[in-house]
Amino acid sequence: MERTYVMIKPDGVQRGLVGDILSRIEKRGLKLVALRMNVMEEATAKEHYKEHSERPFFGSLVSYVTSGPSVSMVVEGKDSIKIMRAVNGATNPVEALPGTIRGDFAIETGRNIVHASDAPESAEREIALHFEEFEITGYSRIDEGQLY
Ligand code: TYD
Ligand code: MG
Repeated sequence: MERTYVMIKPDGVQRGLVGDILSRIEKRGLKLVALRMNVMEEATAKEHYKEHSERPFFGSLVSYVTSGPSVSMVVEGKDSIKIMRAVNGATNPVEALPGTIRGDFAIETGRNIVHASDAPESAEREIALHFEEFEITGYSRIDEGQLY
């Protein structure tokens, strides 16, 4: 089953959106298999966003995601990578459709509330960066029979 890494960034936590965001993920039919709140270490944030290390926004991006507690999770399910990107909406909230997390709650790219891995390789890399294998659980959702 496909897994992806999802983060509720510090602005999502500070605005009290954790429950709503987790609820959207669960109601969509995806499974939370690991979940943690912590302040991300600067070195971890730099590694997480290393593909953007030469971009002008890199410094402010790292400051933003390390500025307070964030919620990290591993989300599992069929096509979870693409589905979570769709649930989050476009990177720039101006382009994010209503009904998506960014389309409902954000107006600025630099405060866009959520992260989700963009491909199988990045999902694998990001899950390994943020979680130890023992932290990732396995269980059946009661509705799994109907969903899959
Ligand atoms: P990116 O990987 O392009 O977007 P996504 O989060 O949808 O995978 O960029 C990572 C984060 O960097 C993005 O969520 C917000 C920030 N960012 C900026 O602050 N300014 C920008 O111009 C871009 C492209 C991203
Ligand atoms: Mg990205």
